[in-house]
Amino acid sequence: MCAEFWHNLYTFITVALLGVLYYILFVPVTWKDNDANDKKSAINRARRLRKIGTKLLPPFPNGWYKLATSKEIKPGTAKHIACIGENFVVFRSTDSKKTFVLDAYCPHMGANLGVGGIVKGDCIECPFHQWKFDGESGSLVNIPYSESLSEVEKFAKIRKWTSKEVNGLVFVWYHRENEEPWEIPVIDEVDNGRFVCHGWNEFRVHSHIQDIPENGADIAHLATVHGSNILGGADINNMRNSWFSFGSHIWNAKWSSNTYFKHMATVKLTHIYKLLSFKLIEIDADIDQIGPGYVTLVLKLIFGKIIILQTLTPLEPLVQNLSHYFYAPWYLGWLAKFIMYGETINVARDVMIWNSKEFVRNPLLPKEEKPLKMFRSWYSQFYSENSKTFAQAHETLEW
Ligand SMILES: *[C@@H]1O[C@H](CO)[C@@H](O)[C@H](O)[C@H]1NC(C)=O
Ligand code: FES
Ligand SMILES: [Fe+2]
Repeated sequence: MCAEFWHNLYTFITVALLGVLYYILFVPVTWKDNDANDKKSAINRARRLRKIGTKLLPPFPNGWYKLATSKEIKPGTAKHIACIGENFVVFRSTDSKKTFVLDAYCPHMGANLGVGGIVKGDCIECPFHQWKFDGESGSLVNIPYSESLSEVEKFAKIRKWTSKEVNGLVFVWYHRENEEPWEIPVIDEVDNGRFVCHGWNEFRVHSHIQDIPENGADIAHLATVHGSNILGGADINNMRNSWFSFGSHIWNAKWSSNTYFKHMATVKLTHIYKLLSFKLIEIDADIDQIGPGYVTLVLKLIFGKIIILQTLTPLEPLVQNLSHYFYAPWYLGWLAKFIMYGETINVARDVMIWNSKEFVRNPLLPKEEKPLKMFRSWYSQFYSENSKTFAQAHETLEW
């Protein structure tokens, strides 16, 4: 009787531990902070926008932007995605498994191809009257009830967007001068599936898009915003709680633009976690900013490498989707999740600053803040003659 009890308890504990282990190793974790349904904050934001006027830089710089993850677009499915002031349909072929990006609205009578659109091979049929468009070119290829295709055809082309699927993400090329896109570097471990995605976070940020990458060149904020113990949490009002003062973070960063690829910039980041005066953890990271919407971070730890992909997509002039995807070999899932925990808290602290700041066009900078000046002059390449101004971008949202 007694032996049986102990045996059952032992079995129970083993199963529970295996469950926990399975979760830590194999179940991706997610963390979401988006106030999409928060009407009040949307209204306040709209009020704030009115005051901004012409001081703001264009809200949609030129570059590659993530529209979706590869997993979100299953073969034979289509998705409507609104961002960068445009409406896209993203769909994946049933045969070739390729992804295509077109304008969402059908030139016939305006139905949204991303809402009930029917994917056939590399083509998509409109959910309203089944006009059929080719994903490769955007050309109209069939009207099921009409023989006079050639007359309508030339008017019925739908806009085809240059897109690229790489590293588990689907990107669209947005360029107001229609310049040729730059290459998105393939990260072998991620692209060929050797590394697993152990988790991701999603933030909705209410700021100008430039504020977010500017963080990488902002050395002075590292100690203020990211210096106090992550155990103190993400709320910058309370994070300096003395209960957690036994630990702190020391950061060092060096920002430089890439002389070979002008759309790229690099940050060399070092991080030390100090327990009292003892250096407990040291992490070095190589960070590549690739245009305005995409960043790769390679973290070198004693156990191995962790790769973080950061994507930043403007939904509206001052509303950004910011995500991080955490990749590592399957057996380093526990470590990737630990890193994700720390990184997510640190980003959430930045988000509190971004959400409540205003955009300063000409900040006062002491000479120690030269990287910020370098960053701004580097980043200005993503604005061009035909970039939509803030007022133009905002106009299309008034209805
Ligand atoms: C923005 O984020 C939300 C969830 O946080 C997601 O549903 C949506 O697809 C994202 N849009 C883009 C364009 O990234
Ligand atoms: S609206 Fe698309 S086929 Fe008529
Ligand atoms: Fe930061």
